[in-house]
Amino acid sequence: MSDSFVLDVTRIREEAQRKMEAGPVTGSYGLDEERVIAILNDVIATEVVCWLRYTRHAISAIGIDRAQVSAEFTEHAAAEMQHAIRAAERVSQLGGDPDFDPATLVQRAHTDYTTPASDDLKAMLENNLLAERIVISTYQEIIRWLGDHDPTTRRLMESILEEEEEHADDIIDLLGT
Ligand SMILES: [Fe+2]
Ligand SMILES: [Fe+2]
Repeated sequence: MSDSFVLDVTRIREEAQRKMEAGPVTGSYGLDEERVIAILNDVIATEVVCWLRYTRHAISAIGIDRAQVSAEFTEHAAAEMQHAIRAAERVSQLGGDPDFDPATLVQRAHTDYTTPASDDLKAMLENNLLAERIVISTYQEIIRWLGDHDPTTRRLMESILEEEEEHADDIIDLLGT
Protein backbone atom coordinates (compact mmCIF):
# COMPACT_ATOMS: atom_id res chain seq x y z
CA MET A 1 0.00 0.00 0.00
CA SER A 2 2.72 2.45 0.92
CA ASP A 3 4.50 1.51 -2.34
CA SER A 4 1.57 2.55 -4.51
CA PHE A 5 1.28 5.77 -2.51
CA VAL A 6 4.92 6.55 -3.25
CA LEU A 7 4.27 5.82 -6.94
CA ASP A 8 1.34 8.25 -6.91
CA VAL A 9 3.45 10.96 -5.35
CA THR A 10 6.08 10.41 -8.03
CA ARG A 11 3.47 10.74 -10.78
CA ILE A 12 2.00 13.89 -9.20
CA ARG A 13 5.46 15.42 -8.85
CA GLU A 14 6.28 14.68 -12.47
CA GLU A 15 2.97 16.09 -13.68
CA ALA A 16 3.42 19.22 -11.55
CA GLN A 17 6.87 19.76 -13.05
CA ARG A 18 5.76 19.14 -16.62
CA LYS A 19 2.91 21.66 -16.53
CA MET A 20 4.47 24.42 -14.47
CA GLU A 21 2.85 27.13 -16.62
CA ALA A 22 -0.60 25.93 -15.55
CA GLY A 23 -0.01 27.48 -12.11
CA PRO A 24 -2.29 26.05 -9.40
CA VAL A 25 -4.44 24.09 -11.89
CA THR A 26 -3.17 20.51 -11.85
CA GLY A 27 -4.30 17.19 -13.32
CA SER A 28 -6.32 16.49 -10.18
CA TYR A 29 -8.55 19.52 -10.86
CA GLY A 30 -11.92 17.85 -11.36
CA LEU A 31 -13.76 20.38 -13.50
CA ASP A 32 -13.59 22.19 -16.82
CA GLU A 33 -11.71 25.29 -15.68
CA GLU A 34 -13.09 27.36 -18.58
CA ARG A 35 -16.58 26.75 -17.23
CA VAL A 36 -15.54 27.69 -13.68
CA ILE A 37 -13.87 30.87 -15.00
CA ALA A 38 -17.07 31.80 -16.92
CA ILE A 39 -19.20 31.22 -13.81
CA LEU A 40 -16.84 33.31 -11.65
CA ASN A 41 -16.86 36.08 -14.25
CA ASP A 42 -20.66 36.20 -13.95
CA VAL A 43 -20.22 36.37 -10.16
CA ILE A 44 -17.92 39.38 -10.70
CA ALA A 45 -20.63 41.05 -12.84
CA THR A 46 -23.26 40.30 -10.19
CA GLU A 47 -21.14 41.73 -7.40
CA VAL A 48 -20.29 44.89 -9.37
CA VAL A 49 -23.99 45.48 -10.12
CA CYS A 50 -24.78 44.96 -6.40
CA TRP A 51 -22.01 47.39 -5.48
CA LEU A 52 -23.45 49.98 -7.91
CA ARG A 53 -27.00 49.53 -6.58
CA TYR A 54 -26.04 49.76 -2.91
CA THR A 55 -23.83 52.78 -3.54
CA ARG A 56 -26.58 54.59 -5.45
CA HIS A 57 -29.11 53.81 -2.72
CA ALA A 58 -26.74 54.84 0.09
CA ILE A 59 -26.33 58.25 -1.51
CA SER A 60 -29.99 58.78 -2.47
CA ALA A 61 -31.72 57.48 0.65
CA ILE A 62 -34.01 59.97 2.34
CA GLY A 63 -36.39 59.79 5.26
CA ILE A 64 -36.32 59.66 9.00
CA ASP A 65 -34.14 56.51 9.15
CA ARG A 66 -31.81 57.73 6.43
CA ALA A 67 -28.62 57.71 8.50
CA GLN A 68 -29.00 54.13 9.67
CA VAL A 69 -30.12 52.69 6.32
CA SER A 70 -27.53 54.62 4.35
CA ALA A 71 -24.75 53.38 6.65
CA GLU A 72 -25.92 49.78 6.15
CA PHE A 73 -26.02 50.20 2.35
CA THR A 74 -22.52 51.69 2.38
CA GLU A 75 -21.25 48.74 4.41
CA HIS A 76 -22.90 46.23 2.06
CA ALA A 77 -21.53 48.07 -1.00
CA ALA A 78 -17.99 47.72 0.34
CA ALA A 79 -18.55 43.98 0.94
CA GLU A 80 -19.90 43.45 -2.61
CA MET A 81 -16.83 45.12 -4.07
CA GLN A 82 -14.60 42.82 -2.04
CA HIS A 83 -16.59 39.82 -3.31
CA ALA A 84 -15.95 40.96 -6.91
CA ILE A 85 -12.23 41.32 -6.21
CA ARG A 86 -11.98 37.90 -4.53
CA ALA A 87 -13.79 36.22 -7.45
CA ALA A 88 -11.47 38.04 -9.87
CA GLU A 89 -8.40 36.84 -8.00
CA ARG A 90 -9.65 33.25 -8.28
CA VAL A 91 -10.27 33.69 -12.03
CA SER A 92 -6.69 34.83 -12.37
CA GLN A 93 -5.39 31.86 -10.33
CA LEU A 94 -7.28 29.54 -12.67
CA GLY A 95 -5.52 31.09 -15.65
CA GLY A 96 -8.43 33.24 -16.83
CA ASP A 97 -8.97 36.95 -17.41
CA PRO A 98 -11.25 38.61 -14.85
CA ASP A 99 -14.10 40.25 -16.79
CA PHE A 100 -15.08 43.69 -15.48
CA ASP A 101 -16.24 44.86 -18.93
CA PRO A 102 -19.03 47.40 -18.25
CA ALA A 103 -20.52 46.71 -21.69
CA THR A 104 -21.65 43.23 -20.60
CA LEU A 105 -22.12 43.62 -16.84
CA VAL A 106 -25.92 43.86 -16.97
CA GLN A 107 -26.41 40.79 -19.17
CA ARG A 108 -24.00 38.69 -17.09
CA ALA A 109 -25.20 39.74 -13.62
CA HIS A 110 -27.68 37.52 -11.78
CA THR A 111 -29.29 40.61 -10.24
CA ASP A 112 -30.65 43.90 -11.59
CA TYR A 113 -29.51 47.44 -11.02
CA THR A 114 -32.87 48.53 -9.68
CA THR A 115 -33.61 51.99 -8.42
CA PRO A 116 -37.06 52.73 -7.05
CA ALA A 117 -39.04 55.56 -8.65
CA SER A 118 -38.85 57.47 -5.39
CA ASP A 119 -36.00 57.46 -2.93
CA ASP A 120 -38.24 55.71 -0.45
CA LEU A 121 -36.28 53.69 2.08
CA LYS A 122 -38.69 50.77 2.19
CA ALA A 123 -38.64 50.34 -1.61
CA MET A 124 -34.83 50.47 -1.60
CA LEU A 125 -34.62 47.92 1.17
CA GLU A 126 -36.98 45.63 -0.74
CA ASN A 127 -34.95 45.98 -3.97
CA ASN A 128 -31.80 44.98 -2.11
CA LEU A 129 -33.46 42.15 -0.22
CA LEU A 130 -34.68 40.70 -3.52
CA ALA A 131 -31.15 40.94 -4.96
CA GLU A 132 -29.65 39.24 -1.90
CA ARG A 133 -32.23 36.46 -2.09
CA ILE A 134 -31.35 35.91 -5.76
CA VAL A 135 -27.61 35.66 -5.10
CA ILE A 136 -28.20 33.37 -2.13
CA SER A 137 -29.98 30.97 -4.50
CA THR A 138 -27.58 31.24 -7.42
CA TYR A 139 -24.48 30.94 -5.22
CA GLN A 140 -25.94 27.88 -3.49
CA GLU A 141 -26.41 26.31 -6.93
CA ILE A 142 -22.82 27.14 -7.89
CA ILE A 143 -21.55 25.61 -4.63
CA ARG A 144 -23.54 22.43 -5.26
CA TRP A 145 -22.22 22.24 -8.82
CA LEU A 146 -18.60 22.70 -7.68
CA GLY A 147 -19.05 19.85 -5.19
CA ASP A 148 -15.70 18.38 -4.22
CA HIS A 149 -14.08 19.10 -7.58
CA ASP A 150 -12.68 22.52 -6.74
CA PRO A 151 -12.55 22.98 -2.95
CA THR A 152 -10.83 26.38 -3.14
CA THR A 153 -13.48 27.96 -5.38
CA ARG A 154 -16.18 26.27 -3.31
CA ARG A 155 -14.78 27.71 -0.06
CA LEU A 156 -14.61 31.15 -1.68
CA MET A 157 -18.25 30.91 -2.77
CA GLU A 158 -19.30 29.56 0.64
CA SER A 159 -17.63 32.46 2.39
CA ILE A 160 -19.31 34.96 0.03
CA LEU A 161 -22.66 33.18 0.50
CA GLU A 162 -22.35 33.50 4.28
CA GLU A 163 -21.97 37.28 3.91
CA GLU A 164 -24.93 37.51 1.50
CA GLU A 165 -27.08 35.74 4.10
CA GLU A 166 -25.94 38.29 6.69
CA HIS A 167 -26.86 41.10 4.27
CA ALA A 168 -30.36 39.66 3.79
CA ASP A 169 -30.71 39.35 7.56
CA ASP A 170 -29.57 42.97 8.11
CA ILE A 171 -32.19 44.18 5.62
CA ILE A 172 -34.93 42.11 7.23
CA ASP A 173 -34.04 43.76 10.56
CA LEU A 174 -34.24 47.23 9.01
CA LEU A 175 -37.57 46.43 7.37
CA GLY A 176 -38.79 45.34 10.78
CA THR A 177 -40.46 42.26 9.34
FE1 LIG B 1 -21.75 39.93 -2.71
FE1 LIG C 1 -24.80 41.08 -0.48
